[in-house]
Amino acid sequence: MRSAPRTDIQHHDHIVLLVDSFYGRVRNDELLGGIFNGIIGDRWPEHLEKMHRFWGTVLINEGSYTGTPLRPHLHMPIGAAHFQRWLTLFLATVDDLFEGPVADLAKRNALRMADMFQERIERYRTRSQDFIQ
Ligand code: HEM
Ligand code: HEM
Repeated sequence: MRSAPRTDIQHHDHIVLLVDSFYGRVRNDELLGGIFNGIIGDRWPEHLEKMHRFWGTVLINEGSYTGTPLRPHLHMPIGAAHFQRWLTLFLATVDDLFEGPVADLAKRNALRMADMFQERIERYRTRSQDFIQ
């Protein structure tokens, strides 16, 4: 299906393409779409813009995201199956569009972040009194 060879993630435009393609898939996913749309509602432009800044900061040193990435997820109705689907969609989006060291970094960081979120959500649910940040 592809017409052009894949490049690595190098510029802001690549970040925008990656993020918008990924959330396009998320919004149409039967497991994740309802959760995202239910929470984000009519704030998709702001969410996408924030996620451009997040991945721009992680991958190409844009330094434009500050925040607490974990906190909004703590109360979401999500578990292992949701993170598995999230990762499947993210890794497939990266592989469909890009290849190279930064694309690999994107996939590694997504895996680490998903693991960390799951661990901390689990800990938050079982021992919320000891939870720090
Ligand atoms: C065990 C792993 C991790 C822990 C415990 C962790 C923890 C945190 C915490 C507590 C903050 C909030 C800092 C604040 O209050 O300003 C933060 C910010 C952030 N984290 Fe992580 N994180 C982890 C892994 C990652 C990974 C894998 C990524 C990349 C995908 C990442 C990207 C970020 C970014 C971009 C910020 C915002 C930086 C800023 O505010 O200047 N983190 N992290
Ligand atoms: C199934 C798993 C996930 C679901 C359902 C989910 C859902 C959401 C939703 C609905 C928001 C918007 C919250 C709001 O503005 O009201 C959000 C924010 C965010 N998500 Fe996720 N997410 C998931 C996994 C991840 C993973 C694995 C990452 C790591 C790359 C991530 C990174 C972020 C960041 C950085 C924000 C912005 C936080 C801020 O406000 O600064 N999410 N997520």
